[in-house]
Order: sequence, then structure tokens, then C-alpha cells
Amino acid sequence: MDWIKPHYTKQSELVGVAEIRSSHERIAQQLHDFIAGQGRARRLLELGAGACGLAAALTRHGYEVVAVEFNPHDIELARKLVGEHGVQGIDVVEADFYEVELEGRFDVVYYWDGFGVGEDADQKRLLRRIGTEWLADGGYALIDVFSPWIWLKRTGSSYEFRANDGTTWKRRVEFDAVNSRFVDFLSPLDGRPTQLSQTIRTYSVPEFLLLTEGTGTRVDAIFDPFGEAAVELGRYDAEVSSRVASSNGFVAKLVPEGSVDR
Ligand SMILES: C[S@@+](CC[C@H](N)C(=O)[O-])C[C@H]1O[C@@H](n2cnc3c(N)ncnc32)[C@H](O)[C@@H]1O
Repeated sequence: MDWIKPHYTKQSELVGVAEIRSSHERIAQQLHDFIAGQGRARRLLELGAGACGLAAALTRHGYEVVAVEFNPHDIELARKLVGEHGVQGIDVVEADFYEVELEGRFDVVYYWDGFGVGEDADQKRLLRRIGTEWLADGGYALIDVFSPWIWLKRTGSSYEFRANDGTTWKRRVEFDAVNSRFVDFLSPLDGRPTQLSQTIRTYSVPEFLLLTEGTGTRVDAIFDPFGEAAVELGRYDAEVSSRVASSNGFVAKLVPEGSVDR
């Protein structure tokens, strides 16, 4: 896991911004609609919060958000964002989410665009912390999980982008079918040998269900990424199947093991 912090620090230097983007506002609205529909929730924990654009957008819906992030460049951007936009209700915590000690518990723990960076054992460690240390009574977690099908299709695809320093880079995606991981390569187009890569574990829904075993959490529902309804497990639905297969993944709602349905 040694690559993770330097990789995201460099990525943040390349493309990070101290802004609430329209994508953050859109996801915050979707999360808020969901959370509000589940009952009362006030205190949220975001894992791997990046430059905190999503966390800041959620504070506009009245939540208090503790945002944990460990790469120093994103932390710098997050503090700038909070200062410049006068964001209230956010606590930016520079820490590793495998080690951080947080005060109190949370109504909702969420992790967007990042689950799967380590090995299965690391993912299990994180799920255990969520289920046993962080979720309040009646609380739940929402995890954005990458699934394999679209990433397999994307193998070999690439696009160019302009970095904050004006240099042009290429992002190329490959899929490692043996380990069910997608790999992202970032290379500058000016001939410099620098190349960054990240590798993220993808999960099918049944694999994710197995992953949660023995972690102190259980899957309460799986949502297809575009749908508003939970996916009915154990039943084939062609439309839902095609939506899950043609998007980045799915969203899992987890509750502490042993908690009863509300
Ligand atoms: C792909 S980025 C997504 C950022 C943000 N969630 C978003 O949607 O914009 C994943 C983030 O997780 C952070 N991260 C990865 N492992 C972490 C760890 N062990 N502790 C804290 N942050 C971590 C990375 O530094 C990176 O900023």
C-alpha cells in the first residue's frame, strides 16, 4: 500500500482544486435525498475525502461532516476551500483512516470514489472500523464500490488532460482480470519518464457480500448507480443488470451486524 499516499498527493498536485464542483453538488443532493428519506441524521463521516468538495457541499444541507484524508496536498486544498468559502460544519482531519482515532459516533459513514485501493484484508479492516467503532446506534454506511464489467470494457482506453501546471498528461486504463483490479496509468506527454499508476480492486455484488463477512457489518441494501430503488438480490432483472454493468459500480448500504431493520 506504499504507493497510495504519494500517488494521490501527486494526483492532487496535478488536477486538485479548492472548489465545490457541480459534480459534488449533484452527489451531495443525491446523498441528502437518500439520507433524509431514511430518518434523522446529523453527523457524517467521510473517508478519503480528497479536497473536501463533496463534504463541503453536504454541509449546505445542514450536516456536520468530519472529513478524513491523508494526502497533504488535498488537505491544503480542503483548508483553502473551507477558508475561502467560509464553510461551516466541517472538520477536516489529516489522518490515515486505518489509524485515526475519532471522537464520538456517526449517523452516516460514506466513502465515495476510492473504496478498493488496498487488498481484501485492508478493505475488511476498514469495514470493521466502520461497523464497530464509528457507526452510531441506528447508523449506516454508504460505500461506492467499483465493479469489474465496465473496467474490463475500458481496457486500453485513454484520454489526455491538462494539469494545473499547464503540462499535458495521458490517462490510460487497463483491467487486471487475474486480480479483478483496474489499473490507471498517468504519463506526461512531454517525454518525461514519470508515470503514476493506481490499482483498485473491483467487486461483483456477491463478492462484496462475502467481503463483509466477519467484519461486524452486514449489507442492508445494494443500489444500482442510476436507480433510486434498492436492487433485489437473488433475482435476475435485465435492466438493472445492464445498468450495473455499464456504470462504475454500485452503492452498498451497510449496517452494524446485529442491528435490526428500522
Ligand atoms: C480517488 S480519491 C477520491 C476523493 C474524494 N472522495 C472525491 O470523490 O473527490 C481517493 C482519496 O482517498 C484518499 N485515501 C486513500 N487511502 C486513504 C487512507 N488510508 N486514509 C485517508 N485517506 C485515504 C486518497 O488520498 C484520495 O484523496
